Amino acid sequence: MISTTEQLGSIPHGGKLIQRQVDREERDMYLQTIANLKTITLNSWHLSDLELIANGGFSPLIGFMGKSDYTRVVEEMRLEDGTIWSIPITLDVEQTQAETLEIGDQIALMGEDNEAYGVLDLTEKFRYEKEKEAKFVYGTIDPAHPGVKKVYEKGDVYVAGPIRLLQKKTNNQFANYHLDPVETRQLFRDLGWKTIVGFQTRNPVHRAHEYIQKCALESVDGLLLNPLVGETKSDDISAEIRMKSYEVILDKYYPQDRTRLVIYPAAMRYAGPREAILHAIVRKNYGCTHFIVGRDHAGVGDFYGTYEAQELICEYEAELGIQIFAFEHAFYCTACENMGTEKTCPHDRTYHVHLSGTKVREKLRNGEDLPKEFSRPEVAKVLREGLRR
Ligand code: ADX
Repeated sequence: MISTTEQLGSIPHGGKLIQRQVDREERDMYLQTIANLKTITLNSWHLSDLELIANGGFSPLIGFMGKSDYTRVVEEMRLEDGTIWSIPITLDVEQTQAETLEIGDQIALMGEDNEAYGVLDLTEKFRYEKEKEAKFVYGTIDPAHPGVKKVYEKGDVYVAGPIRLLQKKTNNQFANYHLDPVETRQLFRDLGWKTIVGFQTRNPVHRAHEYIQKCALESVDGLLLNPLVGETKSDDISAEIRMKSYEVILDKYYPQDRTRLVIYPAAMRYAGPREAILHAIVRKNYGCTHFIVGRDHAGVGDFYGTYEAQELICEYEAELGIQIFAFEHAFYCTACENMGTEKTCPHDRTYHVHLSGTKVREKLRNGEDLPKEFSRPEVAKVLREGLRR
């Protein structure tokens, strides 16, 4: 008999895995006409979103959101048809450019490198309230929040419509780890994994991350380490350095047959609770049956409570169709001589090894070691070398 999670794992969000990537023949056809089209230049956020719409990571979206989806997502965390969705996926332009675009236009989506990455069939253009979006989605209107700052920097008009992807903005360095949801789903079938836990991260894998991943791996068939490699804020450790650190830790400390590293090509929004829901939806589309949400998931500074993301996502767990592994704050305890959380460790905080992200970066930049209770020495070495360059 197939268990519920197995069934859920095979069902993409909204029921169908969206495919909006063109084949070579179609691409040549589009490229022949592209010079005659109006153009919009995409930044790296837009390009990440374009890829994830096209490869089905953002299923059931088929394009950038129109007003009714947008409004309901912002206000109620649902698409117009009621499907749960937590973060607007939109394409912004300046008012002056919006005036040159007409409904029904096919628009070439260009990169800043002047390459054509996609086309958009324009169905709508609409103005929106930035503070409202910030308040609802990020829970704050404070421009010190990196996601809110991005909202304030956007153009004043959203343009909407279905897209086609002509080519990915591929980072060749990560080519071996760049799989689409169709491919990860096939990979899991080939490996015989029926239950798969997805792990989102924008950081190196430290001991706490490893601990919660391995606790989860005790009860499922495989772990998809799925680091976000799109745009992050400037003081986060770069994806290039992180990828090297993932390779060394997986090689030495993880069971090869039960772990896979695949990039998540999205931009980081730092939207805490709402982003945890988006992260879970995308991992479900990649074929995961389970998803880890630990302390302050996708958080930044003190904008969200430690367990706010967990609390919100757990309310929607059944409807999301992916099982959540919620973990408390994990640490190494010098009295237990072991990793644990307050659920499993009886000792007070003076025994717990904890370093803030800022402290970690400071130590690494000064060429100092990280305590081995906090980070594997092989990981610390990669980070130290990367950050000193
Ligand atoms: S995030 O922005 O991608 O969430 P990070 O890479 O630090 O940041 O976290 C990845 C995942 O590990 C998230 O689910 C986060 O909640 C969880 N996590 C990070 N550190 C800890 C910790 N010390 N204890 C428990 N969970 C943690």
